[in-house]
Amino acid sequence: MTETVPYELLGGEEGVRTLCRTFYRIMDEEPRARDIRVMHKPDLAPMEDKLFDYLSTWLGGPPIYREKTGGMCITAPHRPYAIGEKERDQWLMCMGRALEEMGASREVKDMLKNPLFRVADMLRNTSERADSAAE
Ligand code: HEM
Repeated sequence: MTETVPYELLGGEEGVRTLCRTFYRIMDEEPRARDIRVMHKPDLAPMEDKLFDYLSTWLGGPPIYREKTGGMCITAPHRPYAIGEKERDQWLMCMGRALEEMGASREVKDMLKNPLFRVADMLRNTSERADSAAE
């Protein structure tokens, strides 16, 4: 049985950097991600680095984010933004497309699907529905 961590399955540092770059490029270009794009600053480059630090740690690579910040909880940095189902799903759509575009294997995509959903869902801080159908 192999014990390969997702970080390695994605191609190590180079692969995870590509994932972060692709993720924010898609967020920037994709009209269906507009609600979350406007929450971010115009320059996404610093976010690319932060997400890399976070994912490096989270995916089993060098624990950069944990060492820099002392933890992995990202509730506080997301608190200023209204995140509901719609925003969660836009984030996950960008991540799914980025994984697709970089040619990530089915194995690693399957491995990450539920854990990514759980992190994104945990960041929800409004109960607004994805279809805005709530009265
Ligand atoms: C659920 C939908 C999400 C939305 C709408 C969202 C949005 C944002 C925004 C607006 C920022 C601040 C950007 C800035 O300063 O310009 C941020 C920061 C960040 N996000 Fe998210 N995010 C989401 C989910 C996630 C997920 C699932 C992860 C990780 C797997 C993540 C990782 C991060 C990190 C690491 C930061 C920087 C935190 C820090 O300053 O230490 N985000 N996010």
